[in-house]
Amino acid sequence: MQSIAVQITVVLLALLTLCFVWVLRRTATPTPLENLAPGAYKLRNRLFALALLCGALIAGFTLLPWPHDAQATQVTRHIDAKARQWAWELSDQTARVGEVIEFRVTSEDVNHGFTLYDDKQQMVAQIQAMPGFVNKVRYQFTTPGVYKVLCLEYCGVAHHGMVADIQVLPAP
Ligand code: CUA
Repeated sequence: MQSIAVQITVVLLALLTLCFVWVLRRTATPTPLENLAPGAYKLRNRLFALALLCGALIAGFTLLPWPHDAQATQVTRHIDAKARQWAWELSDQTARVGEVIEFRVTSEDVNHGFTLYDDKQQMVAQIQAMPGFVNKVRYQFTTPGVYKVLCLEYCGVAHHGMVADIQVLPAP
């Protein structure tokens, strides 16, 4: 599987390189944009400033509730999560509402992104899965349902297939 992924990547990179060469050859003698559209540089600067402002505002508002981990200090138990191309291996796939689970996350090959989603597809916890390291993230389950572990770091052709379920049962 990995050798097929490498071959596909090499072919796509070769095509991309050809595109760059084609663009480079076509633009050997550039025409200044100002000649084609007067005022274009000023407009470009304003659009860039607007994009920066929007980016800062969106990042600020969406990152305010972080870190998710802050309140969850009393760990009930832990679950080992091992990533590999392209699957998750979890030491347990069940939890109960109220439990504070510490996920101990590592990888067997390349970097992956351990990401926990609740049953409404809302991301509730995230940490990198890195070979040679065990990274820890804690999460207190508050609602029952089927949670999902997905990969949030592009790791090859079947990156999208790295999905595992965690069944969260109501509190006892
Ligand atoms: Cu593992 Cu993407």
